[in-house]
Amino acid sequence: MMVKVAFYDTKEYDKPSFERYGKSHDMQFRFLETKLNEDTVELAKGCEAVCVFVNDAVSAAVIEKLYEYGVKLIALRSAGYNNVDLQAAFGKVHVVHVPAYSPYAVAEHAIALLLTSVRRIHKAYNRTREFNFSLNGLTGFDFHGKTVGVIGTGKIGRIFIDICRGFGMKVIAYDRYPAQDSGIEYVSLDELFEKSDIISLHCPLTDETRHMIGADAIGKMKKGVVIVNTSRGGLIDAEALLDGIKARKIGAACLDVYEEEADVFFEDRSGHILNDDLLSRLISMPNVIVTSHQAFLTEEALNNIAETTVNNITSYFTNDGICDNELCYRCGNIERCKKERKEKCF
Ligand code: NAI
Repeated sequence: MMVKVAFYDTKEYDKPSFERYGKSHDMQFRFLETKLNEDTVELAKGCEAVCVFVNDAVSAAVIEKLYEYGVKLIALRSAGYNNVDLQAAFGKVHVVHVPAYSPYAVAEHAIALLLTSVRRIHKAYNRTREFNFSLNGLTGFDFHGKTVGVIGTGKIGRIFIDICRGFGMKVIAYDRYPAQDSGIEYVSLDELFEKSDIISLHCPLTDETRHMIGADAIGKMKKGVVIVNTSRGGLIDAEALLDGIKARKIGAACLDVYEEEADVFFEDRSGHILNDDLLSRLISMPNVIVTSHQAFLTEEALNNIAETTVNNITSYFTNDGICDNELCYRCGNIERCKKERKEKCF
């Protein structure tokens, strides 16, 4: 059976891998540059599935329309799914995601940001291009012997921890669900804030974790702390972060994600006036590095994303709707999670 898939928010780098895997699975992609929202959902008419990324707004209203058009499946080509109203989708449209495509890509990007920031590589790169070989203002600090606090010790967090240990850093961690027998030293969130020289975020964005780094948390941190966020922008209250930077409390911030990124990231905005004053101000700081949700972007990750997404869609349409990577708002709930029993979520 030929499956037609409306592919929203298409970028040039998405097409080769999806075309390659799609061809071998009798799948036809309708590549759309626009993001999915209430105004663009109509473009999915005639398709059996939609394929979406992190900034497509899969709200209750969008889901209602998809259901009306007979779309059976929302295939996220991401791990995070905070942009999908899972409760609204339940009973109407099934949702699948790519639980892991390259946790290495994200963990390594977090390290790349951290090293760049702490060793002032972004400054040095610009200087030497202008034949400015001065070292003034480029003093960094050794990673060796520093304490890094890792929030979220899942797939990415653990790889990040392994790399940090290689640098000779002391690792402490906080996770709502600590991993058993992992050899990781878990502490309370407050203790992590108080003791860490570097804090890296690797937990999902949920109602509970939104703005977990706010004025209160920053108040408890060490002066000069370096904060790394390659997870989701909403974990940090960006206003509070800016205040912490202006107060010289935060030593540096490395941000691959930003709460209001949906309207800005992934696009070429050079030559435009940026309307987001907060983002402009953060970018203007000498101790802030922003990348545009780039942590996932490796060859390996793109291939794995395409392969798993195509397999998810194929599995859904040829295997009675059963797909290991299906998600619903009840997943993880031991009594109610049907997936644990290899069934459909509904
Ligand atoms: P994972 O599901 O393997 O690990 C997440 C960890 O967070 C789990 O150990 C979980 O117990 C923990 N957690 C859940 N609620 C928590 C809470 N309230 N406080 C502390 N920890 C909590 O996920 P993975 O693959 O490691 O990804 C982590 C995050 O990275 C994703 O949620 C996603 O938002 C982000 N990500 C960012 C990418 C980028 O390109 N910047 C690419 C891929 C993922």
